[in-house]
Formats: sequence, C-alpha cells, structure tokens
Amino acid sequence: MSWRIPLSDIDLGPEEISAVQDVLQSRWLTMGAVTQEFEREFAAYVGAQHALAVANGTAALHLACLAAGLGPGDEAIVPSLTFVATANAVRYTGATLVFADVVSQNDLNISPQSLERLLTDRTRAIIVVHYGGYACDMPRIMAFAREHSLFVIEDAAHAVGSDLDGRKLGTWGDVGCFSFFSNKNLTTGEGGMLTTDRDALCEKLRLLRSHGMTTLTWDRHKGHAWSYDVIGLGYNYRIDEIRAALGRVQLSKLDRNNARRRHLTQLYRESLQELAPQISVPFTHHPGVSSAHIMPILLPPGINRVSFMESIKSEGIQTSIHYPPIHKFTAYHSSDKTNDDLLPVTEDVSAREVTLPLYPTLAEDDVITIVQAVRAALVKHN
Ligand SMILES: Cc1ncc(COP(=O)(O)O)c(C=O)c1O
Repeated sequence: MSWRIPLSDIDLGPEEISAVQDVLQSRWLTMGAVTQEFEREFAAYVGAQHALAVANGTAALHLACLAAGLGPGDEAIVPSLTFVATANAVRYTGATLVFADVVSQNDLNISPQSLERLLTDRTRAIIVVHYGGYACDMPRIMAFAREHSLFVIEDAAHAVGSDLDGRKLGTWGDVGCFSFFSNKNLTTGEGGMLTTDRDALCEKLRLLRSHGMTTLTWDRHKGHAWSYDVIGLGYNYRIDEIRAALGRVQLSKLDRNNARRRHLTQLYRESLQELAPQISVPFTHHPGVSSAHIMPILLPPGINRVSFMESIKSEGIQTSIHYPPIHKFTAYHSSDKTNDDLLPVTEDVSAREVTLPLYPTLAEDDVITIVQAVRAALVKHN
C-alpha cells in the first residue's frame, strides 16, 4: 500500500549518508570509536553519567531487568498499555509480570495509585513507559519506589528528548531504556541506549551487553588488551559503528525535529477541538515537554474502530493503534498475574484509541486534511 500520508516518516538526508560512508571507509564496523562518541554525546544530551548503546530497545530493557536482579519468584509491575517488548523483557528473566492500569482517559501513563494497590512483598521492580513521550508522574513514582526499595526502569522508547521539571526522561529512574527503531524520533534502523547515573550498575550493564567479557575486540585492536576473562553470563547486544554514526547525526537534529512535532501536535489539538467532545485528545495540559512521538486520539464509545480506520484509509491516510493491551494477548492471557477488573481504564482506552500520522516532515496542510478525514469518518459512523 502506498499511502498519501503515512503514519510516520523519518528525517534522513545527506549528513547521515556521509556519516555512514565515513564508517565504511574507516573499515572498522563493530562497536568502536564512533559508538563511544555517540554514547558520550547521548549521556551529555540527557544529563546522565553513563550511556551504553545496544542492539535495540528490547535488549536495553532486558539488560535493565537483569541488572535489577529480576528472576523467578520476583514480581515486576508494568503497564499493560504498551508495546509487548516492555513485558517480554521481564518474562525473559523468569520474573512474574503484574499489570498496572493507566491514570485516566487523558493520561495514558501508569497509574501511581494502581502501583500502590499491586505492591506485594515480592515486588522488586517497576517499569514505567512514557506513552507518546509524555511524562509519567516521576516524582510520585520515585518517592513510592524509594519507600519500598523498588528498582525503577524507565521505558523511554517514545521519550527521547522529553523532559519533566527540567530533567530529561530516562534519567529519573535507576536505568533509562531508549529505542532507535525506524519509526522513533531518533532512529538508527535498529538500535537502543541504556542510561544510568550509577557507576556499578553501568559496569554490570556493560558486561551483560557483551558476553560478560572484560575486554572488547576494540580494546584489543587499540592494543589495550591481549586477552579477556568472562566473569558472568552475558549476551551479544552490541550496536555497530554504522548505526552509531546514524545516531550521532540524528541526535544533532533531535531538538529541532521534536519542536516541529510539538508544533504539529498543537495544530492537531486546535483543529480537533471542533470535534470535541466526541473526539478527545489525551495528554491535554500534561506537565513537562514531550517529544511528541505519536498523536493519539480517543473515539466515542461504541463506534466501530476498524471501519472508522478504513474510512480514513480510503483517503490514503495511514492510522494505527497504540496499543492492543498486553494482558489480552494469547501469550499473556493466562500465564501471568493479571486481574482484568483492575485495568478498567486500559480496557476502555485501548478499545477507543486511534493514532494519527505525526512526523517532522508532515506539512501543516496535511494535518488539516487528516482532521477533515477524521470528521468525515465520524459523520459516517455516527
Ligand atoms: C514502548 C516501547 N518499548 C520498547 C520498544 C522496543 O524497542 P525496539 O523495537 O528497539 O526493540 C518499543 C519499540 O517499538 C516501544 O515502543
């Protein structure tokens, strides 16, 4: 299907092509100097002591769960309204998932009240997801976590560049996990980043990233080491220099592109006002500065969402759903500790959410065209 207006698109130009060419010409492709620069620049950008680049956001989450010490017998609380990777990462460790509800129809982030309700003496970690790049209530969540000695992982896959109270998302918890998947605000195709302020945690994550080995091929190439020890079970979750080079260029464009996303989001909000209260737009008056990763709207209850999306598709406009809730998936339905009664808001919003196109190169006129298509679909289905 070739869309007139796709759901997302990326800002990729001659700078990325030349950065990748430089890496190819250097003839060093695996993790090395370019990755180290990318990590240094990313850590400085978000204001973290350490940043470690990894193969993808799921690998970042998996390593964060391992660094948290999660294993069989432990419980980790995660929202059900997220991409399945957030939950899979917990499951890889053998720990039990406990799904939390989201705050409200306006705030699609994990509910601090739900966390308080789900706490048991086996709870060891919380994974928060900053939906669409909009901040979770980190002051309250961190206070709760510290009171109960819980490890906090921020799934900041949507939130690169977002901040709350002047502090970047991904630096509030013990570990921040970012994704550079091809539809993300900063993309390397596949890629991810871990951030932390804690030295010991960083060393643990660094070992886990590369087979528990004490030196890298790069260290030996530089003549810094002849051999290595393996001091624990680790993985190959390394990134490569080609992706790191892409990441450096993308990072340099991030603030400009996020500002453009926020401008388009504001235009959407103003244009969609005429369809209120039938169409509502989550995160109205939300605290912090969002990366505006996606543009979610909520349809009125009872409307047939698929045929609504079909109507918009007939105009050549792509839409999506964020997210089918994880606790309803076949692979998750019965295996983990879930109580459907405890997730009423997730159940409601996940049935009514539709994501409209949003990306930095989207034109203002396109926003108007999309809102017109939403209006027409609404009239047709009411
Ligand atoms: C909320 C969330 N968490 C985790 C991930 C996983 O990231 P990746 O695709 O880089 O493994 C994604 C990516 O789509 C995501 O949106």
